[in-house]
Amino acid sequence: MNLEGFSELHELAVGTLAHVYRATELPLGRAVVLKCLKPTLLPDSAFAQPLERESRVLAALNHPNVEQLYRFIKTERTIALVLEYVDGRSLRKALDDRQLVVEEVIAIGYEIAKGLLHVHAAGVVHADLKPSNLILGKDGSVKIIDFGIARASALGGLEALASRVAGPGFFGTPAYMSPEQLLSDEIDHRSDIYSLGVILYEALAGRLPIDRRDARDASARKHIEPLERVAENVPLALCRLVMRCLEPLPRERFRSADQIVSDLGGMIKEIDVRDTASLVTAAARGTPPNVTPRSVVASETKRWGSTMVLVALFLIGLVGVALLDRQRSVPVARALPMAPANAGTLRVTAVPWAEVWIDGERVDVTPIGFPIPLSSGVHEVTFRHPKAPEEKRKIEIRPGEPVTLNVTMKGPFNLRGATP
Ligand SMILES: Nc1ncnc2c1ncn2[C@@H]1O[C@H](COP(=O)(O)OP(=O)(O)O)[C@@H](O)[C@H]1O
Ligand SMILES: [Mg+2]
Repeated sequence: MNLEGFSELHELAVGTLAHVYRATELPLGRAVVLKCLKPTLLPDSAFAQPLERESRVLAALNHPNVEQLYRFIKTERTIALVLEYVDGRSLRKALDDRQLVVEEVIAIGYEIAKGLLHVHAAGVVHADLKPSNLILGKDGSVKIIDFGIARASALGGLEALASRVAGPGFFGTPAYMSPEQLLSDEIDHRSDIYSLGVILYEALAGRLPIDRRDARDASARKHIEPLERVAENVPLALCRLVMRCLEPLPRERFRSADQIVSDLGGMIKEIDVRDTASLVTAAARGTPPNVTPRSVVASETKRWGSTMVLVALFLIGLVGVALLDRQRSVPVARALPMAPANAGTLRVTAVPWAEVWIDGERVDVTPIGFPIPLSSGVHEVTFRHPKAPEEKRKIEIRPGEPVTLNVTMKGPFNLRGATP
């Protein structure tokens, strides 16, 4: 490969149409991924169309759980996508290395579901979701990559051309495909939800839901053994979530990734929101699982233990509030971890997405699938996105009253106006 402006090329993979390299972009010195058309294929031939399409799809996406496209290069000799490099390894490698613990799978699944929700909201179906197309970063990030066969309603004519080159079922990995994708190639976002179900099932059970020999057989997907029978120590709620993704009929699955974000978000609340990144980091580095004592699969004793800790924190919080109240006359809002019994809740949404900070503490990145418990009083909520000015809102929380904040970031986004 000879592409000006890049050095230290190191081959990561060879696909059907493209070579994938890690490289250093000059003169910036930053690590990038180059996805280049194979040298035997001409940039003006039909074989170049899928790569061109992939770059258009990626250009419509902008989310921390989706790999970022920096640039698209087309010269007389080649086509190349310049992509963000994620330092880590694929979920495939992580699963081959060791069995992940339930907490890790929940944390990873939650991040994938958030990415998927964004992808679907932009009118895109990934269509090739599988462990080798999910990268776990050592920094705790999870990214969906490889939009090589993604369907995008907004791409019109190019769509038809690309599928003629690729042909239905030519690409993609049958074991992770929904029955409708195997049969007809007529798919919508619920097909990705099916693939997510296969990934979660495999991660929790240590094996695929159907025998590899039946991977191309759509009807075999009617006889998947319930996850609770094949996996140990997996909470029933999680087993049900996975099995609902794996319903053979699309209408029986979750209608949107939003519900998965919400359910997994609820489970994460029980682990400890602040620790999800270190769970991903352990899986990305191949170090032993980093499990906190406040675990979803914790025994009842542990559960009571953590409840007592919360009660103690709450009491300390109350004393703190009482002391502070003497000094100020305005109501004092206490920080998130206290989750006091007289709390109200806050739901936030942000378009396209934002990091949410409350009273100077980082909470999470949207979509946030659970109502955030907050003590009564006034809180300052800040929304941050790297390409938009910060948005600040003051809210007042009253006990038991839910508050919702919907914020649109004012950035140069290209979301094609789609909504979830
Ligand atoms: N942004 C990235 N960061 C790190 N590794 C990547 C990235 N993109 C791709 N890779 C690596 O290269 C492999 C192939 O890339 P992919 O986009 O999936 O190409 P293909 O269409 O050939 O499957 C991935 O499985 C992963 O190991
Ligand atoms: Mg791939």
